[in-house]
Amino acid sequence: MEIQKVGVAGCGLMGGGIVQTCAQAGYQVVALEAEEAFLKKGLGAIEANLSKAVAKEKIQQGDMDATLSRIQGTTALKDLAGCDIIVEAIIEDLDVKKKLFCDLDALCPAHTIFASNTSSIPIIAMAAATQRPDRFVGLHFFNPVPVMKLVEVISTIRSSKETARQATVFTESLGKSAIQAKDRAGFIVNLLLVPYLLDAIRALEMGLATKEDIDTGMMLGCGYPMGPLTLLDFVGLDTIYAITKILFEEFKDPKYASPPLLKQMVTAGFYGKKSGKGFYDYSAA
Ligand code: 3HC
Repeated sequence: MEIQKVGVAGCGLMGGGIVQTCAQAGYQVVALEAEEAFLKKGLGAIEANLSKAVAKEKIQQGDMDATLSRIQGTTALKDLAGCDIIVEAIIEDLDVKKKLFCDLDALCPAHTIFASNTSSIPIIAMAAATQRPDRFVGLHFFNPVPVMKLVEVISTIRSSKETARQATVFTESLGKSAIQAKDRAGFIVNLLLVPYLLDAIRALEMGLATKEDIDTGMMLGCGYPMGPLTLLDFVGLDTIYAITKILFEEFKDPKYASPPLLKQMVTAGFYGKKSGKGFYDYSAA
């Protein structure tokens, strides 16, 4: 089975990036959002990204037009029925994801592969809610999706080898490198990244250094493109908080527990760059 048409459920930061990446790679893409306003925002962000690339002469205007023409935005689930693979990138809520996959299961032909871009929820929890656990994997992209080269391909104990192979071939056709991960909460990257990010918050909370010096330390000392507190703002403090809850619930290991400061900031509505304030202020941006 050759993948020709891709469905992406969710057109936010991650979903929108996946839509753009798939369309730029030449796939027909159906982008699903819950509401027209979210869809408009998501498609608008893709257009703005592509316009920047045209302005920088990274792509031609014709490439941008062709990419946009391959994207069909929709708020109707039934429009995903003809897709060969569906990548889910909606909110990190297991019940909401299970309902989406159950509805898609009833709608899609048997050959359609289901993939979740969850950051940390075990894939089997979603796969087991469908009649196609063998054709279900995790495909975990990284933010910003059009730039980051990695995708984790996560096989559950029910995923078939053929599904993992097709998902890997698909990933590589997007110009990404695939790594194979077992279905454990956090997979490979977040299992290692999240404790590091939480330790940076703890260091700040303990008054060990200023936020700027913590960030500069890791950028200049370790060659990271962003310091941990800037990266937290970039990924979204609400997203990281949701991940800590899942990882802590799974492993009961204090290294995954949310520091009080993270919880306080999320409660206050300081979600990072997307809300205009996190560890840093973005209100002027
Ligand atoms: N969408 C598309 N392209 C983008 C972009 C975006 N949101 N942000 C930046 N870019 C492009 C720019 O256009 C530029 O392209 P060019 O080289 O062709 O001109 C290139 O990326 C570099 O951008 P900038 O020059 O503006 O800025 P930087 O050199 O500082 O790079 C960065 C920006 C790529 C975001 C870099 O800082 C970086 O790699 N940061 C770390 C990101 C990271 O760690 N991501 C993983 C987060 S964890 C995760 O996603 C997992 C989840 O489960 C939590």
